[in-house]
Amino acid sequence: MTTTKPLITIAIDGYSSSGKSSMARQLAKTIGYRYIDSGAMYRAVALYALRHGMIRQDQSVDSASLVQSLPEINISFAINGDRQVTMLNGEDVESEIRAMAVSNCVSPVAAIPEVRHALVAMQQQMGNEKGIVMDGRDIGTTVFPHAEMKVFVNASPQTRAQRRVAELIEKGVQATYEEVLANVINRDHIDETREESPLRKADDAAVLDNSEMTIDQQNEWLLNLYNETIARK
Ligand code: DC
Repeated sequence: MTTTKPLITIAIDGYSSSGKSSMARQLAKTIGYRYIDSGAMYRAVALYALRHGMIRQDQSVDSASLVQSLPEINISFAINGDRQVTMLNGEDVESEIRAMAVSNCVSPVAAIPEVRHALVAMQQQMGNEKGIVMDGRDIGTTVFPHAEMKVFVNASPQTRAQRRVAELIEKGVQATYEEVLANVINRDHIDETREESPLRKADDAAVLDNSEMTIDQQNEWLLNLYNETIARK
């Protein structure tokens, strides 16, 4: 007799560069779920704003123009080789959305209520059929408040900045530790203090501080939590 496991919704939230995306992607692969990086969607909107001259010199956003353009911004995910990539109006923008130029202006873009409403609606639609792992800032609180499994990931700003620098160097992107640390701290502040869906742990989320953990240990912790959650269903 075969028993099919119930499909659930998995929400993984946390600070920037906490390693949540790698963990979430790995878990989805291991258990055969769809993975959605919601931060990539905010980054794609920020890239659109950058390309259309809607980001001012001081990194503030011309939100009226951006909100007006929202119907023209189409975001999707596609498979390119063995990688899932982010598409903006049919173009693979996976590399470009990770550049510092986008990192520096994405938080103000993500603080615009109309941008959030549009992306949250898309994310909820993607999760209609369950069997999904989504990571972000407000997944357990706003996008899927009824998710069966919720995790909140954290690590110190210094640890996160070190990881980000290593990642950027690996991709051939120029960045100094000081610059990245300042960006991490600034983004934390904007993400935590914005009015619309600020970054906050859901009351029923399990907390993981991975400052001192290896990637294998994190993956194991997450898979154990999934198995425990499924066993209770
Ligand atoms: O996880 P990330 O660094 O790629 O996220 C990019 C930005 O988008 C970051 O400033 C936080 C924001 N974001 C958000 O507000 N809500 C989400 N669900 C995901 C990301």
